Amino acid sequence: MTDNYIIAPSILSADFTKLGEEVQNVVRAGADWIHFDVMDNHYVPNLTFGPMICESLKPLTKNLRNSRGEPILIDVHLMVSPVDALAMSFAKAGADLISFHPDASLHVHRSIQSIKSQGCKVGLVFNPAQPLDVLDEVIEELDLILIMSVNPGFGGQSFIPSSLKKIERVRRRIDSCGKPIRLEVDGGIKVDNIRQVANAGADSFVAGSAIFGQPDYAKVIASMRTALD
Ligand code: DX5
Ligand code: ZN
Repeated sequence: MTDNYIIAPSILSADFTKLGEEVQNVVRAGADWIHFDVMDNHYVPNLTFGPMICESLKPLTKNLRNSRGEPILIDVHLMVSPVDALAMSFAKAGADLISFHPDASLHVHRSIQSIKSQGCKVGLVFNPAQPLDVLDEVIEELDLILIMSVNPGFGGQSFIPSSLKKIERVRRRIDSCGKPIRLEVDGGIKVDNIRQVANAGADSFVAGSAIFGQPDYAKVIASMRTALD
């Protein structure tokens, strides 16, 4: 799996005065996906960006490729409630993958199906205190499971160590399900803990402040890949 790790910089920590340039620079620096944190000041106590920004960035990402020649996916992380209407708007705005929190949707199975019906990949996101029970019912429908290793709402928080055990549990569930579901982790990922998170079973890593907080994005991403090798 080592050549199949995904690094997904979160543009939450980018410089918004030059967002397009930031996206292009971080892709050139070795990003695989662009992680797009959508906050609604209701499900989480913060407010970020909506589908119009996604639509503006899509022309920049759609012709770019990562170092393995794969398309750069727009990885939308919805921290919103309700889910369905905004998920549809993001699908129309060019999102490739849309993940939502099951506790933010009244009808999780319906939300999953409606995202898939738009041709998008779909993920479920679990907060640190959120149980994994719903996976019993819907794991086979998913393309991705995203484990929050901080409480959602802000960049730059510290990784919660108990997330490692949860990642291990999700890895076992994915392996026994047998489907190629990605296991993404979000929050407090840095060069010095990414190996440990991978050892627990993650294959996709969101990093905001660790990348955009440094002047040389390529250097940070290369150090993350070295740590993963
Ligand atoms: C938090 C967001 C994260 C955040 C990660 O609610 O979902 O994607 O941007 O930021 P860092 O990597 O700085 O913890
Ligand atoms: Zn996120």
